[in-house]
This record gives sequence, C-alpha cells and structure tokens, in this order.
Amino acid sequence: MEYENPYSNAKQFWSAVKTKFELDTQRTAPVKPFVTLTFAQSLDAKISSANKQQILLSCKESMVLTHHLRTVHDAILVGVGTVLTDDPRLNGKRIVTYFLLADIVGRYMIRFVEPSEYETAHNPTPVILDTNLRIPENARIIHYHKQDSRCKPPIIVCSPTAYNSSSSKKSTLESYGAKVITVDEADCDVSGRPTIGAILVALGGQGVRSIMVEGGSQIIGSFLKEQATSTNSTIDLMIVTVSPKIIGSLGTGPTDSIVLDGSPPAIELKDQMYKQFGCDFVVASLL
Ligand SMILES: NC(=O)c1ccc[n+]([C@@H]2O[C@H](COP(=O)([O-])OP(=O)(O)OC[C@H]3O[C@@H](n4cnc5c(N)ncnc54)[C@H](OP(=O)(O)O)[C@@H]3O)[C@@H](O)[C@H]2O)c1
Repeated sequence: MEYENPYSNAKQFWSAVKTKFELDTQRTAPVKPFVTLTFAQSLDAKISSANKQQILLSCKESMVLTHHLRTVHDAILVGVGTVLTDDPRLNGKRIVTYFLLADIVGRYMIRFVEPSEYETAHNPTPVILDTNLRIPENARIIHYHKQDSRCKPPIIVCSPTAYNSSSSKKSTLESYGAKVITVDEADCDVSGRPTIGAILVALGGQGVRSIMVEGGSQIIGSFLKEQATSTNSTIDLMIVTVSPKIIGSLGTGPTDSIVLDGSPPAIELKDQMYKQFGCDFVVASLL
C-alpha cells in the first residue's frame, strides 16, 4: 500500500478547505474573530465516555490534522470542564511526533526529535471559559508556557462577579502569566456566564482574529445554540472527526447540554468537504 504522510495530508486538507470555502481566517479587529468549531466523536455521536471521562477517539492521522489546525488559528478555546478532566496543554506539539513518524522513521516507529519546521510553528493562545475562576492553580495550561517558550500564556474569561469575589485567585493566576479578562455584567446570561457573543467581542479586543473551539460538551453546545438562535453567524466552520468506535448511552454527546428545536434542523450546514484520515472520517462544513 502506498505510504501517505499524515502531516502533508493535514496541510493539504486545510489548504483545500480554505480554498473551496474562500475562508478569511485573518479578519482584522473590530470584526468578530473567525470561529472553527472542531471535535472528535464516536460513530454513536459521543465525545467523552461515562462521567465525562476523557477518551481517545482520534486515530494518529486525524490527530495530526487536529494539531495542524491548532497551529493555523490564533487561539484555541475550551471550557473549564475540559481543564478539570483532561488537564490539557493545548498546543501544536504532537505534530512533532507524527511529522517525524511520517518523514524520518516511517510508519512503525516514533522518535522525539524536533524538526526545524516545528521550531517556527505557531502555537495558539489557549483560552479558557471559566465563569468563577475554578481553574486549578496548578493546571498544566497555566504553567506550560514557562516550560516551553514557544507556547503562549492563557487567557481566562470570567464573569465580573468572579473578578470581585476571587481577586486573590485572579492575582495568583496573573502572577503565573495568565491574562484574566471579563465582560460587562449586562453581557452575562441568567446563570451569570458571559455570553458567547460577548466572549468573541472580548477576544477580538485582545487581537485574536481566529479561534479554534475544541470543547468540551457544554462549550460545543453553547456555540451551537448561539449559532441556532442568534441573528449573526457565530461559527464559520465546523470540522468534525468521526471515529469508528461505539461509546454507548453513558457517554456525552456534543449537544447534550442544550435544547434545540430539531424540526426543521436547528442549523443547516451550507457546504461540505470529506476526507478519510487513517480509520477516521473528517467532515468540514461551512456555516
Ligand atoms: N472529543 C473531543 O473532541 C473533546 C474535546 C474537548 C473535550 N472533550 C471532553 O469533554 C468533556 C468535558 O466537557 P464538559 O462539558 O464537562 O466541559 P467543558 O464544556 O469543557 O466546560 C464546561 C464549563 O465551562 C464553563 N463555561 C463558561 N462559559 C460557558 C458557556 N458560555 N457555555 C458553557 N459552559 C461555559 C462552565 O463552568 P462555569 O459555569 O463554572 O464557568 C461549564 O461547566 C471531557 O470528558 C473532555 O475529555 C472532548
């Protein structure tokens, strides 16, 4: 069978998606940042296993795509729930492994040597939506930029109430390099969370032109709900990896946290591109 380089495939796919959909991912302020919503799901539409435990769904080829997508966005956004369960670092580093897997040692071995392309690769600014500053002070995302100078310190978006009641937590997080930003009280919903629209405006104000929204379940739900109910488009592009696995009814789905009227469909996707990455199937859809 012909050997396929997963890193080249990832770059080619992103380039083809940008060309076909005529994407402008480098919009300049004060316009809303470009938003790519992306996640990996099982064949029965679950993104995590029972009790929201992290589960590895993507195969190595689609994982390379995910990490390449991180490097082509200014920021990568998750909710505090994902930080609490997965403790992610949210960078593009795993590309290194697969870049080498593809280009140096071939299909069956992995070596951790850094190629020159990675030295200059862009790493996105991590953004965490965390209304009440619940993020642990020792979370890897808070400290990782000090271990690797190519990585950026995170932006944490919280509510104005958290700002007052947890000011010592805010100062501690800032002392580690994190930027803690808030939105006006009027821009929070009934549960006190900053609205997605206000978050995007606030991030645009920080110079963020493109955001890759990676999850988890509640964050994906909130972005989809905003897309379904707002008159302005929130999500520009969706890239979903479908993995040939069945999780079962205890798993969590991407829309479990929201109610959408499904008839007619709450969101109509405009145009699609499909590609197989290893054993996974990736669909990119324009909204
Ligand atoms: N398969 C994938 O691609 C993928 C990707 C990422 C994560 N995951 C999985 O997803 C699971 C975590 O999902 P999760 O739902 O527990 O956590 P989450 O969606 O990452 O974070 C949810 C939390 O974010 C905060 N938040 C702030 N603003 C929000 C808003 N506007 N809308 C919704 N939430 C907001 C809320 O806490 P406050 O109210 O306290 O702010 C909420 O509890 C993990 O199992 C993880 O492994 C899967």
